Amino acid sequence: MNKTENQILVIFGASGDLTARKLVPALFNLYLAGQLPENFVVLGASRSDMTDNAFRNKVVLESTYLKTKIKEHSDDYIKAFANKFFYEDLGGSYDTDYGRLRKRVEDLKNKYQTSGNIIYYLSTPPTLYETIAQRLADAGMSTQNNGWKRMIVEKPFGYSLETAKQLNQGLQQFFEEHQIYRIDHYLGKETVQNLLVTRFANSIFEPLWNRNYIHHVEITNAESVGVEKRGGYYDKSGALRDMFQNHLLQIVSLIVMEPPISDAPEDIRNEKVKALKSLRVMKDEQELFDNTIRAQYTSSVIDGEPVKGYREEEGVDKNSTTETYAAIKFFVDNWRWKDTPFYVRTAKRMPTKVTEVVIHFKTPHHQVFQESGLDNKDNKLVIRIQPDEGILIKFGVKVPGQGFKVERANLDFYYSSLAETHVMEAYERLLLDAMQGDATLYARADEVEAAWEFVDPILKYWESGKDVRMYGYAAGVWGPENSNELIDGIGEWRNPGASLTDDPGFCVIC
Ligand code: BG6
Repeated sequence: MNKTENQILVIFGASGDLTARKLVPALFNLYLAGQLPENFVVLGASRSDMTDNAFRNKVVLESTYLKTKIKEHSDDYIKAFANKFFYEDLGGSYDTDYGRLRKRVEDLKNKYQTSGNIIYYLSTPPTLYETIAQRLADAGMSTQNNGWKRMIVEKPFGYSLETAKQLNQGLQQFFEEHQIYRIDHYLGKETVQNLLVTRFANSIFEPLWNRNYIHHVEITNAESVGVEKRGGYYDKSGALRDMFQNHLLQIVSLIVMEPPISDAPEDIRNEKVKALKSLRVMKDEQELFDNTIRAQYTSSVIDGEPVKGYREEEGVDKNSTTETYAAIKFFVDNWRWKDTPFYVRTAKRMPTKVTEVVIHFKTPHHQVFQESGLDNKDNKLVIRIQPDEGILIKFGVKVPGQGFKVERANLDFYYSSLAETHVMEAYERLLLDAMQGDATLYARADEVEAAWEFVDPILKYWESGKDVRMYGYAAGVWGPENSNELIDGIGEWRNPGASLTDDPGFCVIC
């Protein structure tokens, strides 16, 4: 286990939901595992007027997100954790002099001997990132001569290629690139990281991982929930910005990338950037029409309960053209992947919550047995990101009896079978990495821009292209009726079930 240096974590936007829901539970897990630095405090900063005690109550002692866990430990143990939390009211605005904040940080540093190391976690709207970075720099709080300074920023990182570039340049005026950690919580998921291990630690996969053996790659990210209480945010974002530009393209980059020279952060990140830059950018309207599908969920009844359509959701424009379903077919312009289609879809209000990658292998070059075939009998490697995390290999076996009838068999591995291993939550892992200065699982500026480079033309086409369509799908089904048109000539999307070995066609709708 690497030792984590003493430090202060300053959370901007600390009164918001993310702090209580994700960050503090992640810190609590690190506390339980004995992985917090010896001298460590958290300073929440935002515009609400709160005392240290009120903050401790809100995010620790009375937090609904910690309730069950807290019960399992003694009061003293929990109190010792809560006492690491402090709060500073920034007044009416983040755009203010940080002299008082600086003084508070200094006092905490001296009192708790945290040394000058500081992480600034920006859990505020992205429009404030540059302002906060500037104000920190103005107050002399970004300099590294008295301990390191790091800044973690949440998504969305930009709204388009142009705004992402502006944001990168804006932040880089005040913090150096190596100080900036852009969080993508999918990279914190064990199963996403395992994509690298599956590929590069197994000589049974590595030689096959290319156009010669892989027919196509399919990625599904489905959520059963709708936009919940985030209609206002989501309506300005949509599935492509909310999930595809970041989380799904991160997964794509790990599938597409060339082997890195080593597991050093920059070696891995360099290969990921190269991978993203090799995605063929679609510019032609016909190409965009043929290779993209967007849709919105409409009202429906699921398990006997009425469910609202997207346009009826709170905070959503009644005439909204924001997509809750996005499916994209694309190619990768490099030696490894030439002519191998990738199909990626993400959506809300699907029949189940699932994220999986399916590698469809080609039919053997010479078919000896009539009964094999791409649709169901050929080899598939299913990498299940969530839930029921695991890996499934589908392969053909002979049906006992006369002749050579081929049947499909499953070879499966489940993470849950590694019972003795504690699987870290995404935020837990990512926070610990940032505390230790490991940026492998954080997105670099050029990586984010390369992803936007690919996504931008699709967004522009969807906004104002000729013949662009918005389809509907009843909440609780696998997308619009024409969704299989994208998989032209190959078959259908594999509609996965809640467990790894469920066969396609699974549906929970009543
Ligand atoms: C977030 C999106 O980044 O990821 C949400 O903003 C989405 O809309 C969430 O629900 C999904 O994350 P997970 O880890 O539950 O798949």
